Formats: sequence, structure tokens, C-alpha cells
Amino acid sequence: TQVDKAGYKHFMAKEIAQQPSVLGDALAHYLPEDGLNLPADLDFTGVERLTLVACGTAHYACAVAKYWFEALAGLPCEIDVASEFRYRAPPLSERGWAVFVSQSGETADTLAALRHVKGQVARTLAVVNVPTSSIAREADLALPILAGVEVGVASTKAFTCQLLVLAALALKAGRDRGRLDDAAYAAHLETLQALPGLVNQALALAPEIEALAAEVARAQDVLFLGRGPLYPLALEGALKLKEISYIHAEGYASGELKHGPIALIDRDVPVVVLAPHDRLFDKTVSNMQEVMARQGKVLLVSDGPGLRAAGAGTWASLRLPEVAEPFAPIVHAIPVQLLAYYTAIAKGTDVDQPRNLAKSVTVE
Ligand code: G6P
Repeated sequence: TQVDKAGYKHFMAKEIAQQPSVLGDALAHYLPEDGLNLPADLDFTGVERLTLVACGTAHYACAVAKYWFEALAGLPCEIDVASEFRYRAPPLSERGWAVFVSQSGETADTLAALRHVKGQVARTLAVVNVPTSSIAREADLALPILAGVEVGVASTKAFTCQLLVLAALALKAGRDRGRLDDAAYAAHLETLQALPGLVNQALALAPEIEALAAEVARAQDVLFLGRGPLYPLALEGALKLKEISYIHAEGYASGELKHGPIALIDRDVPVVVLAPHDRLFDKTVSNMQEVMARQGKVLLVSDGPGLRAAGAGTWASLRLPEVAEPFAPIVHAIPVQLLAYYTAIAKGTDVDQPRNLAKSVTVE
């Protein structure tokens, strides 16, 4: 059956390893060789605003996608966690669309948020893993992420597949709104279609990450930093680690370091810096130097050019393949998941069934 560990020690390990294959499935469906495959009437031309609502890891997928919708499509984009969104009287636009992202499609707050916006926006979309779920059924249009059954409580393959479907939507929005010329569109398609191979390369870092995790497991606090679309990845990295290893972790926008978290830095605090060699890389390097000047242990996750430009002084580094902007978060998700996984293993916690957490939260 689909629901066994297939030789892996944990469902989480299996689900992390499945990502090249499930991303391939989602690509074959939404981004085949000849371009985008989305329902013909899914036209973003006159959409005034996009509102993306979710909980937990799915919320961080939305937070990454906000950067994409803004940069690729010039589409005003609002994100919120469902439990806040539904109670804060958000002004909605009749010419706006609302997108609900959920692995299970049953999360109580997300479902309630969907019911709340009905009639107040032009269209509701569900990005879900379970096509028969309540959220899929109640939205105007459901887009399955095609990740297959996810058993591990900490979401992994659903996250990257959510990102892929949201990336396809952002490309569609960019085309519909005349923001992406043929060359830019073709380049983005090519980047996304290369993802299974890129993710495979990232998975090959597992032994290096396992060795680093032995050290991270001794920490009391861990910081994750990122800029741009890697900022939500920093939040997701911190969430993953605390969920399954019970180590206190925080994600921060790199530029916010000096507005608070730098006070925590000493030689016992690992700082995971997620920084592809993009146009903001130099700024992140100076944040990193501030950490290193205070004896903080920087684990730099970057690509070849980034690692060369960063120079010496880091505690450790992990080399990912180069990924064209702005889709690096999909590949950076892999080391973040593996670091949480191996740290939890080093601590001996129950990876697939962490204490106090549920796979699907169907009560408020
Ligand atoms: C729970 C799970 C998380 C998940 C969140 C949202 O907290 O432990 O992994 O991200 O619910 O779930 P959903 O099914 O709506 O994506």
C-alpha cells in the first residue's frame, strides 16, 4: 500500500525522500513541457487582490508565494493565518480572489475562513492534498497538489508541492497580467521543470546534515535567518525544528537581526543562514559577520558562488545547486527538513508522532 514506510525508519524520512518524484508528478500535471496547464477560465487579468489563508507550514508556503505573486505578476497579495484572518474583519474586495492552502483540507480554522469569505470575493481557490476534503469541496475550484498521502505530522512533501502549485499560479498571473514576457516566462518554466533534479542534489547532503545535527542537538536555541522569499523559509525551518526536536527555534528576516535576536547570540547558538547567491546576498553576508563577531555559530546554506563570496569564519556550510530567482525556497526546503529530522533523531524524539501535535487540527 501507499501507507507504509517502504524501508525507511520513519514516514518523515520517506516523505522527504519522495520529493523529487512527487514534485515530478505535480510538474507533469501543472507545468508540462509545453507550458502551463491550469483551467482555462482561471484568468487573473482583472483580479484586484489575492488573499492567501492557511495554518502552520501551509501558511509559510503562502508567505513565500506572496513574494512570487508580487514580483512576477504585480498582484497585491495579502496573507494571514486562518485563526487571525477570520476574526479580524478584513476588508475584502468583490474583485479579489481568496486562496486556501491546506494539506488535509480539514483544518478547522482554514475551513471556517473559507466559509467566511464566501460571497465577499469573486472566487475561492483551494490548494489541497486531499481532493475529497471539505476545503476542496467547498471552494469554487480545487487544485490538488498531488503529493500523495502524507503521514508524518511535520509536513514536508506537501510543503514543496504546495509551493510548486503556487508557483504555477504566480506564473499564470504574471502571463495574464502582461508582467512576464516570453523570455522571462520560458526561463521560469525551465527553472521549475528542473526541480526534481535540483531537489535530488539537495537530498545528497543528508550525510553532511546528519553530522551537523549531532551538534545542533546540543543547542538550547537555534536561529534561522533569510531574506526575501527565504525569510518564510527561515520561519518554516524554525517551526520544523521545534515541532520534532523540541529545541527552541526562531526564524527572522536577516535584516531584523539587529532589532532583537542578536541579543541571544553567543557560542552556543547555531544560526542557520539561508542565503542563495542572489541580489541581496551581500547584505546577508554582513548580517552573518555580525553573528560571527559575537562568536555565533553560523551554518550557511547557499550555493557555490555564495559560499565562495561569503569567505571564511562560518561554523559550517552546505552547498546547494544554483536555483534561479525567485524559486530557491523550494530547494532550500530540503536541508531545512533534513536538519530538523536528524536533530530529532539525535535527540531520540518521536519523529512521526511528536508530543502534543496532531496531523490535522479539526477543532478550533
Ligand atoms: C498541523 C500540522 C502541520 C500543518 C498544519 C496545517 O499543525 O501538524 O504540519 O502544517 O496543521 O495543516 P493543513 O492540513 O491545513 O495543511
